[in-house]
Amino acid sequence: MSTRRLRVVLEGGDTYDIRVGHRLLVNLGVHVRDVCQATRAVVITDSEVGPRYLSDVKTGLRKAGFEVFELSIPAGEKSKSVAVAAELWDALALLGIGRDGVIVALGGGVVGDIAGFVAATYMRGIGFIQVPTTLLAMVDSSIGGKNGINLAGGKNLVGTFRQPTYVAADLAVLATLPAGEWENGFAEIAKSALIDGSDFTQWLVDNAGMLVAHDETVVQQAIVQSLGFKARVVAHDETEKGLRECLNYGHTFAHALEAVAGFGKISHGRAVAEGMRFAARLAIEAIGASEGFVKLQDDLLDNLGLTPIAESYPADELFERMFSDKKVRNNELRFVLATEPGEWQTIAVDPDLVKIYLILWEQARM
Ligand SMILES: NC(=O)c1ccc[n+]([C@@H]2O[C@H](COP(=O)([O-])OP(=O)(O)OC[C@H]3O[C@@H](n4cnc5c(N)ncnc54)[C@H](O)[C@@H]3O)[C@@H](O)[C@H]2O)c1
Repeated sequence: MSTRRLRVVLEGGDTYDIRVGHRLLVNLGVHVRDVCQATRAVVITDSEVGPRYLSDVKTGLRKAGFEVFELSIPAGEKSKSVAVAAELWDALALLGIGRDGVIVALGGGVVGDIAGFVAATYMRGIGFIQVPTTLLAMVDSSIGGKNGINLAGGKNLVGTFRQPTYVAADLAVLATLPAGEWENGFAEIAKSALIDGSDFTQWLVDNAGMLVAHDETVVQQAIVQSLGFKARVVAHDETEKGLRECLNYGHTFAHALEAVAGFGKISHGRAVAEGMRFAARLAIEAIGASEGFVKLQDDLLDNLGLTPIAESYPADELFERMFSDKKVRNNELRFVLATEPGEWQTIAVDPDLVKIYLILWEQARM
């Protein structure tokens, strides 16, 4: 299998490369050397990923002449905190890292988000490389430049926009990805396909079985297509002024569901898939979507193993949560709604209509 290369070209003219393939950890140093002047590399990883992949990354970086340091954080969402960010800033200062340094994020979205935030803020910003190790990070969070940490008041409330200078998605690391983590990636791939359009959607419909079976060629193609889609979106709207909102398809409902169920009870992927199911049904009434689109999407999600949520959660609590989402503006409930693959819009939906659909959703599960 050959390595595939993509390039993100931002509106301001900045660019960065992405590689998706094999032997990218051991060759990381050579590729990083090509894109940055740094001489010292600090690999930030977590307690699950580090023991498995840090040694290859360090070897690769040293081979290319970097002085290499490592910082490990506990695996899991809790590490996206002010306290852990402060520990990382202090550790960088103790190591004497300056503008000669580059931070390498080796891990899933958690490591990518906090390492990106630390790289963007330490000394007002030093170099940053993403080495995503979950499918979700490979198809979504490693590009686009959003980073952040959580506060007691909510997820991702503090962060910046800061693009990486290089992204290396080494498919070999997926061999150790826990089964439950795959579905988080599948949901984002489905979202990307349905928002992107009919070509990607049809490809995913045709290849869902192979993707679920972890066929490597299909996994690589799904990553490349998802990244290509996100790269096009980010190229036109780096800081979420408009177009980039489409990446939130399914997420308004998903965030409310995850919060009402209790964080960690429902995987993010299953919540996003349920959010897409909810949005498609809402779109019938709100913007005249067809039953045909609902069925196409339902079948696709089913075939990806993202089956509907069976448990019921109170409609009024979901409604309250939607209003407290940080993306609510001017007290309007905004949704990304689609009528068919590639045909979507972001609109404020009448709260009473949302309430009715939430009650229907709750009752269907009682
Ligand atoms: N910045 C963005 O644009 C963006 C987009 C989507 C999500 N996110 C963020 O991403 C985070 C979720 O990321 P995630 O789903 O990758 O979760 P994660 O980073 O918590 O990783 C999931 C688990 O898998 C382990 N793991 C990672 N790679 C592994 C591998 N190859 N083998 C074995 N274990 C491995 C991790 O240690 C962790 O325990 C959230 O905080 C979310 O807010 C950010």
